[in-house]
Amino acid sequence: MWSFHKWFERHSLILVVGILVVVSIGGLVQIAPLFFIESTIEEVEGVRPYTPLELAGRRIYIREGCYVCHSQMIRPLRDEVERYGHYSLAAESMYDHPFQWGSKRSGPDLARVGGRYSDEWHRAHLEDPRSVVPESVMPPYAFLANADVAVEQMPEHLRVNRMLSVPYSDEQLANASIDARAQAEPLGENAFDFEQRYPGAVSRDFDGNPERVSEMDALIAYLQMLGTGVDFNVYQADTPENRR
Ligand code: HEC
Repeated sequence: MWSFHKWFERHSLILVVGILVVVSIGGLVQIAPLFFIESTIEEVEGVRPYTPLELAGRRIYIREGCYVCHSQMIRPLRDEVERYGHYSLAAESMYDHPFQWGSKRSGPDLARVGGRYSDEWHRAHLEDPRSVVPESVMPPYAFLANADVAVEQMPEHLRVNRMLSVPYSDEQLANASIDARAQAEPLGENAFDFEQRYPGAVSRDFDGNPERVSEMDALIAYLQMLGTGVDFNVYQADTPENRR
């Protein structure tokens, strides 16, 4: 047996072929089953597709490069869980195209920032971060309050997401522009229909300016829903211990 191995080690080409054969067996054992199971993501109650306004806010988040300084993925490490809350579940980013896990944290992780601050706080912070956190190095984004959300682009935006397997209905697609407005106008004529189409979504005048639906509205709507879908008081991971 060992002399056979010595022979292998002396002929580098044969050794390389041997290594490739052994490594591919390992690879097949890991990868092949993924093609036969229905889903690699365990679905979790409470996770829903983004509303049109949140989706617009997400696009602004990407456009402004917020991911350069902020991650959206809480790792299952004690210090992170104590600071940010329950570690992120795969299902929580199942409707993210592209995902925003990020790899840099100049600022805090934002995966569960939803509901942690008031809309007013976010407004003040985005307009001038140092007005609320004096030592902040985050740049100001005051111009967002003066730019209208491109609501007319929302049907297309939802359609592309549906192509990527986000389950938007025909009705949601057809009303995407109306719903984007309705979420920022809680007393508007379409508020009721919006709530029917997106149960559980919060509708508010996020930017405090009822005159227009601004990019500030969209971005705050997005920030305020981050990590709020799953109720961790009732959530139980699907692990062998919990199944018993
Ligand atoms: C240059 C790096 C940088 C960029 C770019 C940046 N931030 Fe920040 N952000 C920070 C830092 C540092 C903090 C911590 C200090 C503070 O609260 O301002 C922070 C804090 C925050 C907080 C408060 C988080 C908490 O838990 O206290 C939010 C929300 C936030 N940023 C959102 C955004 C959004 C939205 C964008 C894009 C429009 C953005 N940031 C872009 C660096 C950045």
